Amino acid sequence: MADKTFTLIDNANNRSMELPVRQGTQGPPTIEISSLYKELGVFTYDPGFMSTASCKSAITYIDGEAGVLEYRGYPIEQLAEQSHFLEVVYLLLYGELPAPAEMENFEGIITHHTMIKEKLKDLFNGFHYDAHPMAIMTGVVGSLSAFYHDSLDIHNPQHREISAHRLIAKMPTIAAASYKHSKGEAFIYPRNDMSFAANFLHMMFATPCEEYVPDPVAVKALDILLILHADHEQNASTSTVRLAGSSHANPFACIAAGIASLWGPAHGGANEAVIDMLEMIGDVSQVPKYVAMAKDKNDPFRLMGFGHRVYKNYDPRARIVRKVCHEVLASTCHAGSPMMELALKLEEIALQDEYFIERKLYPNVDFYSGIIYRALGIPNNMFTVMFAIARSVGWIAHWTEMIADPHQLIGRPRQVYEGAPKRDYVPVDKRRKS
Ligand code: SDX
Repeated sequence: MADKTFTLIDNANNRSMELPVRQGTQGPPTIEISSLYKELGVFTYDPGFMSTASCKSAITYIDGEAGVLEYRGYPIEQLAEQSHFLEVVYLLLYGELPAPAEMENFEGIITHHTMIKEKLKDLFNGFHYDAHPMAIMTGVVGSLSAFYHDSLDIHNPQHREISAHRLIAKMPTIAAASYKHSKGEAFIYPRNDMSFAANFLHMMFATPCEEYVPDPVAVKALDILLILHADHEQNASTSTVRLAGSSHANPFACIAAGIASLWGPAHGGANEAVIDMLEMIGDVSQVPKYVAMAKDKNDPFRLMGFGHRVYKNYDPRARIVRKVCHEVLASTCHAGSPMMELALKLEEIALQDEYFIERKLYPNVDFYSGIIYRALGIPNNMFTVMFAIARSVGWIAHWTEMIADPHQLIGRPRQVYEGAPKRDYVPVDKRRKS
């Protein structure tokens, strides 16, 4: 709703304009500028969208200064403590916590979509054994639209819903298959008698030769990590999915675009980069040297897992992941693991350093998650895949919210043109000689 206005005064041209101000349920007031170009012939310029709301949404709320994260109004701390991943999936998709019967029905639907077409498995053979699993995820998830012609009418709510269910259910199966492909091992079918997290660990570590029972501590830790990574407002990969979806591309193609965006080390690829960084630092005695490098403008090295575009406070998810990390390490006989000690020391030194304090750089969700995945036996190059499994829920929830909006428009930003002014073509024999 817009009941207040913001007066824009253009002194140079002696004119002004009243811009409507929209106030959401929570968060800062927002100035609606969509008529600016039509009325005044000017653009706004905001590279990286530091001060730009790209859409309205009712899914997730973040307060970066206060370190607050809420899914459909529920604080992430309460969901991590009291809920479970599939219940959070239901909440993100449908906006309310499910009644018991709704939860049972939803669990059955997702469970019975976890298998992938046998023909889809042939795609994996096109990848070399050492292909990065995120490359496989991008390709295989994008190819799902080639297998599900029956549900690609994005204007049909039933098609949107079954595509969401298929995607959420099949992400772990495709992810585990990417891992098995890299090991040259047989793919393991999903089990309908296991929870979402347990099923994933089973598909990752079981073999056809013997039973594999996932460790309950590992299952619980993974379930919490999936909850924490499920959604995060208009981050780079979610914005990528929305922009791809705004052209009415099919949902699987849009999610593949989101996977590609998440892969970057500045975004979801940071969890893998954190472990690579900790392995490079190697020892607590080296921490001051690397902290100095991170502060040096002439050195491209940054502390991976530190800093955030929105959080200028401790990432509430990082606080929870750090606690889970201690629990998993203790239960998997890794208590006092050198890597955990190194991470804690790095955090301690950085948080006392004026450079990080002044720039409000804190550990983010990626700083500790890799240590947990490692303790669960998941290899480094699968860490961002873990992020993608969880974030596919947020992506498809935002895609659905956008496509269901009757006022949805194709996303088409403008630019500040700084290229050559208009000039005439020069025949090749009239051009400079070199
Ligand atoms: C995720 O958007 C989301 O919600 C993302 C995410 C989600 O759930 O979807 O939360 C997941 O992507 C978490 C972020 C994971 N990335 C990393 O951990 C990579 C390391 N972090 C940085 O690359 C950086 O902090 C970003 C990319 C996360 C944020 O960058 P910004 O907001 O563009 O901030 P910036 O680069 O302008 O940094 C501000 C200042 C700069 O110094 P000055 O130019 O002011 O002197 O802080 C410095 C930066 O050089 N800085 C760092 C730093 N991060 C920022 N210096 C050293 N080490 C760092 N990690």
